[in-house]
Amino acid sequence: MNKEKLIEAARMARENAYCPYSRFMVGAAVLGENGKVYTGCNIENASYGVTVCAERVAIFTMVADGCRKFEALAVVGGGEEDGAPCMICRQVMTEFCKDFDVPVYVGGPTKVYEHSMKEICPLPFVSFKENEDYHH
Ligand code: THU
Repeated sequence: MNKEKLIEAARMARENAYCPYSRFMVGAAVLGENGKVYTGCNIENASYGVTVCAERVAIFTMVADGCRKFEALAVVGGGEEDGAPCMICRQVMTEFCKDFDVPVYVGGPTKVYEHSMKEICPLPFVSFKENEDYHH
């Protein structure tokens, strides 16, 4: 799975964005450690705070399918560089990324910028030690 394929999956998912309030379409795709690609789009609500970002939809779909680690994430917004994950999504990404070397691709209409979890989440909140006995 190369970055172009993951970005293309995010671009396709973006077409399904439900964003009548912001009109800002976002698509995301994650590569699960099981080799499968999971996609998401932003889904807004008349009660604005209920809105869910594309990245979380993609990650939660992966988790609901029984996979808990992603090896790469791609997100595509409307402009050249404005698709970087929001801070709530970064916390969810922190929970389910395989490690902090995982690449994060931010795509615009033409270019793709490559970052890493380490770079965009430099001082993450993690508490795995507390849950070492959680194997379900
Ligand atoms: N949005 C995302 O889908 N991902 C982000 O990381 C930032 C914001 C969505 C939420 C909302 O539907 C719209 O973009 C405008 O904020």
